[in-house]
Amino acid sequence: MMSSFPHPHLLGIEGLAADDVHLILDEAERWIAFNRRPRRQADLLAGLTQLNAFFENSTRTSLSFEIAGKRLGAQVVSMAVAQSSVAKGESLIDTFRTLNAMQPDVVVIRHGETGAARKVSEIVDCPVINAGDGTGEHPTQALLDALTIRRRLGRIEGLTVAICGDIRHSRVAGSNMRSLPLLGADVRVVAPPALLPPAGELGAVAAYTDMDEGIAGVDVVMMLRIQRERMDAALAGGLSDFHHRYGLTRERLDRLAPRALVMHPGPINRGVEIEGALADDRGRSAILDQVENGVAVRMACLDLLTRARRGD
Ligand code: NCD
Repeated sequence: MMSSFPHPHLLGIEGLAADDVHLILDEAERWIAFNRRPRRQADLLAGLTQLNAFFENSTRTSLSFEIAGKRLGAQVVSMAVAQSSVAKGESLIDTFRTLNAMQPDVVVIRHGETGAARKVSEIVDCPVINAGDGTGEHPTQALLDALTIRRRLGRIEGLTVAICGDIRHSRVAGSNMRSLPLLGADVRVVAPPALLPPAGELGAVAAYTDMDEGIAGVDVVMMLRIQRERMDAALAGGLSDFHHRYGLTRERLDRLAPRALVMHPGPINRGVEIEGALADDRGRSAILDQVENGVAVRMACLDLLTRARRGD
């Protein structure tokens, strides 16, 4: 019997069980193999309409959702937000009431407001996938990160993962801080005090303000971009020595965590949070594996979430 995903939407890692995550990762494995074939056209989502609505900039996430839907046979439409009536002042709620009347079968949304995907899920009559909501969650990113670690290192359980950089403003950190402990990894965060989340939001995650201490002996180093668009000028101005204190360089990594896998969700800012040559070293850096695995994870999510309405 085919296992089923017991949730109507994918709004975050919060609320998922370890089995739900394993199901998505296992399903994604077969899509990785499928995506390496010379022709990739499945028909699982044939006749279904996938609506992508990205209210914030995106390269990897928006394109991979589009490619994922097309490879599964869906009719994929992507809303051009800048040219839409959002620019005329239409609210999020009215926008999605309107889009819902066009009967989409799955909605993928990225929005600057934390909680926007949940709000949309309460309006539309189809599954909603959160592709990043403000500083909240970015579940498919955490899923593709978990898949990448599992494929590169053979397991997740028992590993130590350091998430470094702008933790406070990062929904990627928000989702990984939930998924990795669920899968049995030991997670720590490393950031300047101003970029750490409030202590009450850390749960079991250990916080370090010294990079060299934070990455000593870890199995995975996950670097994050400074999200200047989500901080005020005073905070951004105080980060001028960031690369020196928190940037990941080959020298620093080899001294502290000689075999560690380097990850980054992108977009990377070379010479700020990561040395360009290290990012380009495919033996150490899994950055492009993350991108490849992202298409497969999104195919798995689109398939699992639409099974009920397909009657499969
Ligand atoms: C991230 C995002 O948008 O949250 N990018 C991504 O989806 N790969 C991280 C970022 O913008 O820094």
